[in-house]
Amino acid sequence: MSGKMSVTKFTHTGDLFLKKYNVAIAGATGAVGVEFIKLLQERDFPLGSLKLLASHRSAGKTMDFKGEKLVVEELTESSFEGIDIAFFSAGGGRSKEYANAAVKSGALVIDNSSAFRMDPGVPLVVPEVNPEDIEWNKGIIANPNCSTIILLMAVTPLIRLQKVKRIIVSTYQAASGAGAAAMQELIDQSRQVLDGEEATKNSFPHQIAFNLFSHNTTIADDGYNEEERKMIFESRKILHDDALMISATCVRVPVLRAHSESVNIEFDGERPTLDAIRSALAAFPNVRLVDDRVANYFPMPLDASGIDETLVGRIRYDLSNPNAIDLFVCGDQILKGAALNGYQIAEEWIRQQSAFV
Ligand code: A2P
Repeated sequence: MSGKMSVTKFTHTGDLFLKKYNVAIAGATGAVGVEFIKLLQERDFPLGSLKLLASHRSAGKTMDFKGEKLVVEELTESSFEGIDIAFFSAGGGRSKEYANAAVKSGALVIDNSSAFRMDPGVPLVVPEVNPEDIEWNKGIIANPNCSTIILLMAVTPLIRLQKVKRIIVSTYQAASGAGAAAMQELIDQSRQVLDGEEATKNSFPHQIAFNLFSHNTTIADDGYNEEERKMIFESRKILHDDALMISATCVRVPVLRAHSESVNIEFDGERPTLDAIRSALAAFPNVRLVDDRVANYFPMPLDASGIDETLVGRIRYDLSNPNAIDLFVCGDQILKGAALNGYQIAEEWIRQQSAFV
């Protein structure tokens, strides 16, 4: 089938939203971009048109959307004319280069990169945690780091029970955080190792198959890597708590697309009971309790893959600290850690806009 124009009009049958929104995805061919396309295809989004943008390498390729073939276009400054919402997931460099052009064209930019996250003029949002920050955007809303989102999905319901003083988190991060090519590298290396061949390294500095290593981001003078610093500073910004003490150790593991985190949470004062903690987690939107001690069944990255919910379990009192608890959390890095959170930001923004009409 030959390709059509990439801007195609779609009819939304639901009556929740009257206005329809023209959407662009910058980085449409990437791991997160593909998931944005799926979300727009499968969910009840008031879509007017969809424009797919990627590098010149992908320009002219077609991608399926609701039975149509959409042609991918090269991302340029003039890509955003007539666009209402632009999802950016093409790396920080592209966000820095093109996000302002999109804003000038009148689009709301929802940026999945780290380019603007710590900019005090840009809201950093997890819709279940701080939807109110969407309101003061000036054209760009930043989607937080994937490990930060997954951490805050588990910690926020507990903060609402009792103020938290200190968090110590260790991550077990999937290959997907480094993009589609890195996921393929894990598969290819696994085959190579099983075939007795040497593992080919492109996306990662070390062999990822049958191995794990400290997160592949730059190490700062203080010894923390970039991912760990993101978890610390982004969490404080999202929670509006600059005093929150938080330390992180981020590790890459041979898992395809869901991150896991071991979290120690110290409350400011007496810790809530385990029953209260379980109830708060179970009642929090998009969190699912997986905490079966009898069956020894707890959150696993395979169970968390491809679903919206963040899984939380292994909830127990910390025996070394009377004010602390431990838990384990798993969340899909591409969905809640990236595309789904961005999509929810768009939905929440639309809801807030509609409230002003
Ligand atoms: P392309 O597929 O054409 O390289 P991932 O995070 O899975 O690695 O995906 C990165 C996304 O960012 C892809 O869609 C990729 O497009 C896109 N991208 C990378 N470099 C550029 C660029 N210079 N201009 C526009 N899009 C880019």
